[in-house]
Amino acid sequence: MNRVSPARLATSLFTTSFATRPTVAASAPGRVNLIGEHTDYNGGPVLPVALNRRTAIAARAAARWAFVSTTDDGVHHLDIEAPMRQAWTDYLVGVVRELRVLRAAPPGAEMAVASNLPIGAGLSSSAALTVAAAKALSLLAGKRLSPAALAEVAFRAEYHQVGVRCGRMDQTIAAHGQRGLAILFETAAGTLQPVPLPGRLWIMETGVSHRLTGGALNDRRRECEEALAFCREWRPGLGYLAQLTLDDLPEVERRLPPPLVPRVRHVVTETVRTRRAAQALAAADLATLGRLLVEGHESLQRDYESTVPEADLLVASALDHGAYGARLTGAGWGGAVVVLAPPDREARIVAEVGSDFHKRYRRMPATWNTRASRGVRRETIPG
Ligand code: GLA
Repeated sequence: MNRVSPARLATSLFTTSFATRPTVAASAPGRVNLIGEHTDYNGGPVLPVALNRRTAIAARAAARWAFVSTTDDGVHHLDIEAPMRQAWTDYLVGVVRELRVLRAAPPGAEMAVASNLPIGAGLSSSAALTVAAAKALSLLAGKRLSPAALAEVAFRAEYHQVGVRCGRMDQTIAAHGQRGLAILFETAAGTLQPVPLPGRLWIMETGVSHRLTGGALNDRRRECEEALAFCREWRPGLGYLAQLTLDDLPEVERRLPPPLVPRVRHVVTETVRTRRAAQALAAADLATLGRLLVEGHESLQRDYESTVPEADLLVASALDHGAYGARLTGAGWGGAVVVLAPPDREARIVAEVGSDFHKRYRRMPATWNTRASRGVRRETIPG
């Protein structure tokens, strides 16, 4: 990983590309979700953590919309009115459109984007981009939006403009993340409860990249909506799948078409696991937390069918070598595994897991650790 901070990189890229200095800079983190997968769009709880890796944007008001990024060459132009291009720049267009609704967009801007987050690794590089862009551009417009407002702009950009049927977890943690704390986000009630996370989490990337737009996430969401419609035939007024309890599962099995049953089972059992996990973390009971992570992974494997063999191998190997627990994090179908291990043995454990992975796939999984970090922030422009 490049050791230079994303804010510094974005600033120097801006200066060399536009031959002037940016007037604002902002950054937002990616996220690792400890547990609570595919519950956020079903009214359930999630327990995400803001990563120590971020995306930064340096910007200056201008008469046009232009941007540069460290991931490709040249100055690109954005047409905010034109149809989406099915490219990552759609996320920036989406943010501008949503800021305009709030009268919080500048007339135009030049922007430079830099990030040390892996892209397509299930670590919310898109939410880091949209939340950082919402912050930088609203500052240019002279508006100070709250973290909640920034998260909503970013969510609407992704959901309504880009068309990814995501929930609100990623944008919420990118905006509200706090150093040393995981956040229990009850998505139906909208409440955020900080839970201390003193140690480090390890991230092991499968190297299998996922594409969310129009893909498997949208399919699963459709299945959940169909399942909810079936459930409402016997439970009129049911708001979300996550309101069902374990006791409702036999009835779900009797009434729903067989392919939908495991999807509902995952949501209901994951909701229970996530609340227990938050309690275990609050009690510093890492052994229990680890067990819940593994049960969560097994549920993704068996019931939600969102894992890949590379992730299954990483999880099984982490357990073999003495981790408390591990699971696939984020949407899935690729992405990364989060490993929770005893602090005195964690480096050795992930090294052994890496070597098991190498034996099978002939490549090393990118492996790094993170502490819980801060959400979106304005950056002082480095000199
Ligand atoms: C993606 C979505 C989130 C959430 C996860 C699965 O990251 O953006 O809203 O649904 O998948 O838990």
